Amino acid sequence: MGKQVTAPAVRARKRAAGHEPLVMITAYDAPGARIADEAGVDLILVGDSVAMVVLGYEDTLQVTVADMAHHVGAVARAKPRALVVGDLPWMSYHLGTAEAAANAATLVRAGAQAVKLEGGRKRVPVVEAIVDAEVPVMGHIGLTPQSVHAMGGYKVQGRELDAAEALVEDAVALAEAGCFSLVLEGVPDVVAARITEAVPIPTIGIGAGPHCDGQVLVMHDLLGIEDRVTPKFVRRYASLKADAVAAVAAYADDVRTGRFPAEVESYHAAGETLALYGKAAATA
Ligand code: KIV
Repeated sequence: MGKQVTAPAVRARKRAAGHEPLVMITAYDAPGARIADEAGVDLILVGDSVAMVVLGYEDTLQVTVADMAHHVGAVARAKPRALVVGDLPWMSYHLGTAEAAANAATLVRAGAQAVKLEGGRKRVPVVEAIVDAEVPVMGHIGLTPQSVHAMGGYKVQGRELDAAEALVEDAVALAEAGCFSLVLEGVPDVVAARITEAVPIPTIGIGAGPHCDGQVLVMHDLLGIEDRVTPKFVRRYASLKADAVAAVAAYADDVRTGRFPAEVESYHAAGETLALYGKAAATA
């Protein structure tokens, strides 16, 4: 494995400067982190999507800083080469800059090397406070799932010119506040291209077209572990849920028909124990 990815190294990865696109994927536990890292991704996002993807909630608003620290710790214990970014959950950075910095510190102590938070210009004081505490911050604008009720649903943002221009201003403000990178979620491709051109930090898109400096997908969508809803922007590279159902069904069938466990999958005794207990086993 190569060198540890750092936030300053990510910050320098603009495609306009000749760099190849950044690859980010979510992971929520140690096996997921090992899969992502062995595949050679640049960044692992311990996203608050864990709420919906793993914990069975309807939205991302249900997870707390403690929940996120639990999952960040599991990912970090896999010691990935990729940069581990911990998502600050809803209400962990809305009540003041000191509380936001303290919550960022909780995720860093759990193993995150950077944190991500949602929102535009109004988050500038919070970004500055966390950066001032020496924690790299990734911004996140466009379709921000923590604002699901305020947005009136999960809707593409920035289709109208006014809204697109507001997104460009948000991106510039977040970059000036010290973000080292910026997620663009659910925005038209041309708007993402304009933002990518306007900021000196890399943009990482999800449902934001091909012009960003990198891309992110939720691991469970990409692998087909989550197969209930497939948003337009997801490309599915495997069908692990279907494979897993088939594997468990085959196991159940083997147990019910006596094909599992076989001789080689059993431990054996010798001597007196075999002599005495062997008869019982033969008649069972
Ligand atoms: O929580 C998450 O998975 C995210 C990505 C969709 C960017 O924020």
